Amino acid sequence: MSSTSATFAPVITIDGPTASGKGTVAHGVATALGWAVLDSGALYRLTALASIERNIADDAQDEIAAVAEALDVRFEHGAILLEGRDVTEAIRDERVGNTASCVAAFPAVRAALLARQRAFRQAPGLVADGRDMGTVVFPDAPLKVFLVADVEARAQRRCKQLIDKGIPANLTDLLRDMRERDARDTQRAAAPLKPAQDARQLDSSNLTAEQTIQTILDYWRDVAPAS
Ligand code: DC
Repeated sequence: MSSTSATFAPVITIDGPTASGKGTVAHGVATALGWAVLDSGALYRLTALASIERNIADDAQDEIAAVAEALDVRFEHGAILLEGRDVTEAIRDERVGNTASCVAAFPAVRAALLARQRAFRQAPGLVADGRDMGTVVFPDAPLKVFLVADVEARAQRRCKQLIDKGIPANLTDLLRDMRERDARDTQRAAAPLKPAQDARQLDSSNLTAEQTIQTILDYWRDVAPAS
């Protein structure tokens, strides 16, 4: 692949708060278009998991940034491998998610992950989901979606997902954690969660995943250059 095709490959960014359904929707849109997907939250979660496993202090920004810089990660057929070990499930743990939200507030960690995220851009296109995909990582994306949903709807979805996986979950605790995480992600100084100026806001509280995917595909039909 030439650097030109990487630079000009189109990107659809899907940003939004935790458990807004970004991951499912990003995969659905990418599958429909035959594009690649970047789950940028997974990189923050991997950084958090690797830092927890190395007993690095929560506030050791430079050490955590060094972990992010050196992450040995592979995304293979839907699995996520950290140093060759399958951590697909381990990074979804709520503790890892909360730590990810904390390490993501460190500018040095965000800087360490920037080039790695941009390297996912390749022809024929990329669907990138996260918090700052449209504002910082791919500011030239031709379509930016800001996906929102009521915090109650999101907590209920997350609760159901966990219970379906056989993991005990408590709605009240999830709601509290989710509100804290939303506050941290939106109020941090470095690349806070916010819609890009040119983003389309989509509320999925009362939409199924399929309806949300279809809405984004319709948006793409509006903005895609005619082939
Ligand atoms: O999308 P997620 O829940 O897997 O993300 C985990 C944490 O990572 C989230 O609380 C904030 C952080 N994150 C971020 O700061 N920027 C991104 N582009 C993606 C995730």
